[in-house]
Amino acid sequence: MSIKTVAIIGCGIGRSHIVEGYLPHPEKFNVVALCDLNEERLKEVGDEFGIEKRTTSFADVLADESIDIVDICTPPGIHLEQVLAALASGKHVICEKPLTGSLAGVDQIMEAEKAAKGVLMPIFQYRYGDGVEKAKRIIEAGIAGKAYMGSVETFWLRTSEYYSVPWRGKWATELGGVLVTHALHLHDMLLHLMGPASRVFGRVATRVNDIEVEDCASASLLMESGAFASLSCTLGSQEQISRLRLHFENVTFESNHEPYSPGKDPWKIIAANDDVQAKIDAVIGDWQPVAPRFTTQMEHFHAYLSGKGPLPVTTRDARRALELVTAIYQSSDSGSEVVLPVGPDSPKYADWRARTK
Ligand SMILES: NC(=O)c1ccc[n+]([C@@H]2O[C@H](COP(=O)([O-])OP(=O)(O)OC[C@H]3O[C@@H](n4cnc5c(N)ncnc54)[C@H](O)[C@@H]3O)[C@@H](O)[C@H]2O)c1
Repeated sequence: MSIKTVAIIGCGIGRSHIVEGYLPHPEKFNVVALCDLNEERLKEVGDEFGIEKRTTSFADVLADESIDIVDICTPPGIHLEQVLAALASGKHVICEKPLTGSLAGVDQIMEAEKAAKGVLMPIFQYRYGDGVEKAKRIIEAGIAGKAYMGSVETFWLRTSEYYSVPWRGKWATELGGVLVTHALHLHDMLLHLMGPASRVFGRVATRVNDIEVEDCASASLLMESGAFASLSCTLGSQEQISRLRLHFENVTFESNHEPYSPGKDPWKIIAANDDVQAKIDAVIGDWQPVAPRFTTQMEHFHAYLSGKGPLPVTTRDARRALELVTAIYQSSDSGSEVVLPVGPDSPKYADWRARTK
């Protein structure tokens, strides 16, 4: 098993990638370079972790043959150009959410991946943790049965201080609001556990902060399975919680309510009867604890690079979550239901920010 060398681009959440994603796996990863336009941040994070190579030039990182993985943690508005450049340079690429700001952009990335030497893994770290992974195993084992109803709540708090960072709150640089930056994780968890959506009705509004992008959203989904799901998101909740509650024929699942780690135990896993409970016990009886969030996502990425497992999150996964965003914006603008898939004929395919009113 070889150690992969990593360059972190953007030292905000990039610092958490180091702490949670790479340092717990010293035999798998070595963070050898930092890139940030902010020299103070470069010094602070470089000194903290003893990372010697520090640069303000993304091009320098791409030209450095000693780097295997470029981990993009910059503001959303520059993900597309950085991902395309990093793939073209032959590196493996990790990119924070949102991967980019349109389905056209995602499709461009998918085209670039076909010719790339390296592989791209978008970040969806909320998929990892004991609770969510047990639920996934039970559902995949066919124990849960018919899906009835999902309820997904992203009730977080963001104040004007959060929006003092210049790229936040603006269509040009954040690319969206609560749907794109915050609730995307929980919505990805829903799709991960309950499968794809087929029809979407949505509403968005800006009611909490003095910003351009939405900070409240509500959507009603018909899933391909026939189940319904309702999504509720606000950045004005005085108690922050994230919550998924999923009702299937044989099992009801409810996540813990930790806003930024709802994948961790404890989850409520409520069986319809003793027979179902026995089946659940049979598939999770040997459960080995898994670390939540980046720790496990990065571990699986290394396994993939070593030929020992599937790519844990794919561009197709990112597309599915961003297709839902696109559909909610389109529905909110038009006042009509949107039928998935969203393709090039959609008014929001090229740019979901385009407003019709
Ligand atoms: N997965 C999660 O839970 C999670 C949490 C927070 C943020 N994010 C995402 O991570 C990204 C960054 O968010 P953040 O909160 O860390 O923002 P931030 O503003 O704190 O940090 C971004 C850093 O990128 C640097 N930067 C900007 N342009 C650059 C460039 N061209 N080259 C190199 N560095 C550049 C900035 O100087 C800044 O230090 C966003 O896409 C955000 O949505 C994800």
